[in-house]
Amino acid sequence: MNQYSSTAALKPLSITDLAAMKQRGEKISCLTAYDAGFSALIDKVGVDMILVGDSLGMVIQGHDTTLPVTIRDMVYHTRCVSKARQRAFIIADLPFMTYATPVMAAKNAAKLMQLGGAQMVKLEGSRIDCVRFLVDQGIPVCGHLGLLPQSINQLGGYKVQGKEQAAAEKMLADAQQLQQAGASLLVLECVPASLAKEISLQLTIPVIGIGAGVDCDGQVLVLYDMLNIGTIKRPRFSRNFMSDAANIEEAINTYHQAVKQSRFPAVEHSF
Ligand code: KIV
Repeated sequence: MNQYSSTAALKPLSITDLAAMKQRGEKISCLTAYDAGFSALIDKVGVDMILVGDSLGMVIQGHDTTLPVTIRDMVYHTRCVSKARQRAFIIADLPFMTYATPVMAAKNAAKLMQLGGAQMVKLEGSRIDCVRFLVDQGIPVCGHLGLLPQSINQLGGYKVQGKEQAAAEKMLADAQQLQQAGASLLVLECVPASLAKEISLQLTIPVIGIGAGVDCDGQVLVLYDMLNIGTIKRPRFSRNFMSDAANIEEAINTYHQAVKQSRFPAVEHSF
């Protein structure tokens, strides 16, 4: 037992638990993690979900982009994370070019789930064919719209997406199609707060924002950004939670509470 939990035995949250949280208006907290130590700490604090993001290519491996990350890297880190958690729901990213076809997506998602222990896989973009195929095989899927780091060479930089009317309408339509195809969760990255609010209202599945305003159903941050560690400049939409904290556990708890009480992100972290 710790200061955050009751004596009840902890078991991992399920997609049904996450859907119920949206229904009752409870915000969902999520952080990325890549190893057992941080996984255990995030889990102990009570953060609802851990994303083993391919951001590990940048914050762990030191690359400029997420593109060099392999499925082998993802399986390794997902296994480290899943072994150490009791309650948090585990999502793992399908890395660049591992879902070029639905069959490839299913083979790689199976590795993340069978070898890594992920409960859900995340893929970027409006890949309706892959989402439908994965869901048909019994694999829970999280979509990811807005800024797509795996398409950085097409986008030409890390910029806010969906600012123009046409782009906003397309993002809403893509989000609805992903839900229809069976996605159980959606991440919106670097999206105007008003658009993210609209998408969150229109969808029945939980929408998790990163740089997408306070009105999403939950929030995710890259752990190393919010702890202010690493070599990469912290993005504007993140916050240094270590600045007022005595230690890492306190910083993570401050983030978790701020998400639960809709105090993060503030206006200065939104677009
Ligand atoms: O890889 C990652 O950490 C992510 C988040 C930025 C949502 O996809």
